[in-house]
Amino acid sequence: MLRRLYHEQPESFAFSPANQEWAEAQITKYPEGRQASAVIPLLWRAQEQEGWLSKPAIEYVADMLGMAYIRVLEVASFYFMFQMQPVGSVAHIQICGTLSCMICGAEDLIAVCKEKIAEQPHTLSADGKFSWEEVECLGACTNAPMAQIGKDYYEDMTAEGFARMLDDMAAGKVPVPGPQNGRYASEPLSGLTSLKEYDSGRTQYNASVQLATDIGDTIKRIDGTEVPILTPWIGADGKVAGREADANPPAEAPAPKPAVKQAEEARKAGKPAAKAAPKAEAKASPSPEQAVTEKAPAAKTVASTGPDDLKQLKGVGPALEKKLHAAGVTTFAQIAAWGPEEIADMDGKLSFKGRIERDGWVDQARLLAAGEETEFSKKVSKGGVYED
Ligand code: FES
Repeated sequence: MLRRLYHEQPESFAFSPANQEWAEAQITKYPEGRQASAVIPLLWRAQEQEGWLSKPAIEYVADMLGMAYIRVLEVASFYFMFQMQPVGSVAHIQICGTLSCMICGAEDLIAVCKEKIAEQPHTLSADGKFSWEEVECLGACTNAPMAQIGKDYYEDMTAEGFARMLDDMAAGKVPVPGPQNGRYASEPLSGLTSLKEYDSGRTQYNASVQLATDIGDTIKRIDGTEVPILTPWIGADGKVAGREADANPPAEAPAPKPAVKQAEEARKAGKPAAKAAPKAEAKASPSPEQAVTEKAPAAKTVASTGPDDLKQLKGVGPALEKKLHAAGVTTFAQIAAWGPEEIADMDGKLSFKGRIERDGWVDQARLLAAGEETEFSKKVSKGGVYED
């Protein structure tokens, strides 16, 4: 099956406030420069919120993580857990059709889907409440046949029970996940034969079903208010465990950023920014690296005094350009004048770390500020292609 962006897309996507908070907390789990590692949890939460992953949702997550849109699309389209087209408003049913489940009755479950939902997979039912698909082994083979609905497994199913379950869901009820035949977990159907001492102290349901019913977020859309924001890696004092920077926070707010500030003031005053913000001028005895800065085109000339098309920088797309504007950065000259301090500041403002250096924004900006072109800016001017 081809997995690509759906032909109809919503205008926009945004996390609900609670999901936004959750997503930002997830990002703090990863070391600087490795925020992209949060891509799967963020995509999953976006899907839990909307039911499927739209192009705006993929771009939103990419912007949060400082990733190119195509990279996030690659993740979303690779993993079958992500739905690339609208799904039923109540539930999307994933029937396992691999060996154990097929032997134990998966075809009967699929027949129920065809009869009660739609003949073809990935098609909405007439009332729009359900959709279905066949998936590969979900690792619950002992409890075959089974289906995943939302984040939960429904196991040991029969066609009749499954049909009733769909009716219940359509009526607004949420069937308890887990084995549907009275089995507790994945023990033999005849009961435990060993390790019986561990069977005392069991909760009403097995651990995963108990958690699902306790949290109560089973098949519904998640706007973030249903589930606690679990961030054990962030202490009560708001510091991220193991981060040196957090352990020694600066006593005061960071000092003003001279180059950016000067360039911005110059821009407001209608003066060429580079005259106001030549990074090399601020240094008495330049290091070899600074000497390169002095020779850089940005230190010599500025292409214009108005806002530049920052999307000509590889790594800056429309969303990041907006964020840069909001931070008062509108010209190549401003970016060309950034040093480590300004880069660190902007990294924070743009909610990602390391991208400015990784994509070489400063070097690109120096060329563009001097009226020269980069390989990427040539592509942008030709085809309006942005990478962000
Ligand atoms: S074969 Fe269905 S869960 Fe493994």
